[in-house]
Amino acid sequence: MVSINSGPGVWLEIEREAATLRPPGFTPDLVPWGAGPDFHKFWIPEKMTPLAGSRVYGDLGEEQKLRYNQCCALETIEKLIWIESYGITPTLVSLLTGDLPTPALRELVQSVLIDELNHTAAEWRLLRLAREDLYRKNKLFFFRPPPSVVRLATRVSRMPRLLSGWVFFYGSLEERLPSLCRESGNGVDPLFATVFALHTADEARHKRINALIAKWLVEPQGKLAGWINGRVMNRLSKAYRDTGWGGDGPILQLIEDFPELAQHKTQLIEETLRGRAGKEIPATTAGQLPELPSAEASALSAAPDGAIPGPTEKISRVGT
Ligand SMILES: [Fe+2]
Ligand SMILES: [Fe+2]
Repeated sequence: MVSINSGPGVWLEIEREAATLRPPGFTPDLVPWGAGPDFHKFWIPEKMTPLAGSRVYGDLGEEQKLRYNQCCALETIEKLIWIESYGITPTLVSLLTGDLPTPALRELVQSVLIDELNHTAAEWRLLRLAREDLYRKNKLFFFRPPPSVVRLATRVSRMPRLLSGWVFFYGSLEERLPSLCRESGNGVDPLFATVFALHTADEARHKRINALIAKWLVEPQGKLAGWINGRVMNRLSKAYRDTGWGGDGPILQLIEDFPELAQHKTQLIEETLRGRAGKEIPATTAGQLPELPSAEASALSAAPDGAIPGPTEKISRVGT
């Protein structure tokens, strides 16, 4: 058992939680895959797509709306895969390579890792069933975050104890799931709705485990470590949520499928960026860690980025 600065109350709480938290539940076998999704239905709640509600969306034909919705659903699943494969999974693996304060906490972290691998496996299967032509090679098609996001996520996954704000950041990215799940009751394809629902069922448990990890790693951090943690995590959060990138994949695909829309490309992309800002960026500030006021920060300037390793090699993708 490693020595820790947190009081013994935290570890008693972890033991208690470990006894009550149910074991991992969502495996791809629980999904009734059948012949795949229904191409005549929306695959994601209509109002949760960036364009929905805009004038340009109202001008689209029914077939065009359907195709746009399905591309947005594929992009949403890809985002979940990215968050899990590039963010959560390597971070947890890295965390598990070192000592953990109690066997109970190790067990809990391992159980989240198993859940996330199962989510990712189910998501790849769903993508391939939906569009075998796009996903035969297990490569993301729509979601391509910029190098700054990949670099920062890689950095965090290499130093999950110092850069422990990931427990808030990744938790907040999966926060969209409950509303996806709730809204999917309104006519969304049952296969997509089931995958969203099973995934959501695991998240309440993950949230509680993240809170325990935060008590272990975030709360006892000293000033300097807290500042580095806050600075890197806030940069990652800002880079990821920057609405200047992403969201254009479904539009480009829509134009490829319906070339007559090419003349509206600029307007479609502008409305997408506006819609993303309003719908995809959580209203909560979850993921934001406090940074030191600038006077204190400059007093610590000997440390800043120099304390953090430079860009590292790419994380390998997890797929099935
Ligand atoms: Fe997940
Ligand atoms: Fe999760």
